[in-house]
Amino acid sequence: MDFPWWRDAVVYEIYVRSFADASGDGVGDLAGVRRRLPYLADLGVDAVWLSPFYRSPMADGGYDVSDYRDVDPLFGSLDDFDALVTDAHARGLRVIVDIVPNHSSDEHAWFQAALAAPAGSPERARYLFADGGELPPNNWQSTFSGPAWTRLPDGQWYLHLFAPEQPDLNWRDPVVHAEFLDVLRFWLDRGVDGFRIDVAMGLYKAAGLPDTPPEDQAFKAESPIWGRPETHEVYREWRKVLDSYPGDRMAVGEVWTDSAEDLARYVRPDELQQSFNFAWLQAPWSPTAFREVIDDTLATVPSPTWVLSNHDVVRHRTRYDETDPGTGLARAKAALLVMLALPGSAYLYQGEELGLPEVTDLPPGTRQDPIFERSGGELFGRDGCRVPLPWSGTAMPYGFSPDGARPWLPQPVEWAALSAERQAADPGSTLAYYQRALALRRSLRRSLPDGIAWLDSPEGALVFTRGTLTCAINCGPDPVPLPPHERVLLSSGSIHAGTLPPDTAVWLS
Ligand code: NOJ
Repeated sequence: MDFPWWRDAVVYEIYVRSFADASGDGVGDLAGVRRRLPYLADLGVDAVWLSPFYRSPMADGGYDVSDYRDVDPLFGSLDDFDALVTDAHARGLRVIVDIVPNHSSDEHAWFQAALAAPAGSPERARYLFADGGELPPNNWQSTFSGPAWTRLPDGQWYLHLFAPEQPDLNWRDPVVHAEFLDVLRFWLDRGVDGFRIDVAMGLYKAAGLPDTPPEDQAFKAESPIWGRPETHEVYREWRKVLDSYPGDRMAVGEVWTDSAEDLARYVRPDELQQSFNFAWLQAPWSPTAFREVIDDTLATVPSPTWVLSNHDVVRHRTRYDETDPGTGLARAKAALLVMLALPGSAYLYQGEELGLPEVTDLPPGTRQDPIFERSGGELFGRDGCRVPLPWSGTAMPYGFSPDGARPWLPQPVEWAALSAERQAADPGSTLAYYQRALALRRSLRRSLPDGIAWLDSPEGALVFTRGTLTCAINCGPDPVPLPPHERVLLSSGSIHAGTLPPDTAVWLS
């Protein structure tokens, strides 16, 4: 079948701060990523998505951008970026970069100019300033806790759906459109293959910024805050730019929504090629829930994506462990096989191939996610899935940084057993399993049809075929018989006497 590359790609998310540190300052960087490209090529992924590495005061780990056209010195330089793209391409890996259009940093030149300019000025028109008196202009709450408004000494308020250091841009101002079109071209000219769009469903807010009931402030298909219809105009403009470059350049939207139909609205021939499908990542370990997510997605979204973890959520190994302790790793490995058997593309999060758990006991003083501070320590935030990767050795920094450097978050002592080096030498490791699964998928995928067919499944299990491939997963407490087959191609755990044990998945032909 002739597909554009992204259609069935396995994309590996690199949270740059936590992937590999070449400079020795304890923070991951672009040179670190470049050195580890052989690892990613061996793993068998098709593309990497790099979290923001632009100039930033790092109030939200780089999702507060002060210059969209430069690399933060913490992460390296534009030369490092160019070298990374060249080397990735030489190894057959595509590069997706993160674009953050909903808000800039408060240190961005535009926001600084807005602060220096009076109310009603063109400088302020690029953001969402409003008068409010003593109280904020409306009741909106920040996604990171607390009010979504901050007041300036001159009495005006500005909107920030995230931290106060992340003022929301005003997409009703044409200047904002022109600026981002130019930023897209800047990175496309440097050879990127695509963009991951941060908060893709948030750019427009309802005119008049009306008060909104708390339940409608959560991510929704449409509310005064999220999913405004005008947003789609932006992606139509962006698509024209992407299509004006050779080589199937693409964009994938971070769309948190409560409806598959809404997700599909972003994925259209003249809009985005993909949007992240977070339904599975929010589903419990349940065959009914899994089947519903799969059916809804395949019936609704033209170019499906599958995501189990990313840098914003508790790692899925740990999510699955929370309900049934001790099952997390087996379940995570089983879910991978289902994900990789489905039509569409799979997004992996760094470290899941090592079976890393969430780090739940970080000392409070080390936590850096603004959610932790803004919620007064009530919410741990996302640091637990962002702990730097263990590459090698038996003590911190486990090869993440040169010896002697302190990683920006401490790594658990148990991670000595999970290092990439150790797992690479063990054919029974999680890493070796991911490599086998990815290699097998690569060898099969272009011969498989775009749809699946469900087979009758024993209680607690799911079984489907995709052309010649049969995939079964057992989510229940008892072993179930294996579906009819000639060969076992791969299983996520050991299979005995023709049965599929609990928390295990298998590929059969
Ligand atoms: C979504 C990103 O994935 C998250 O890490 C960030 O904090 C928010 N958007 C705000 O940019």
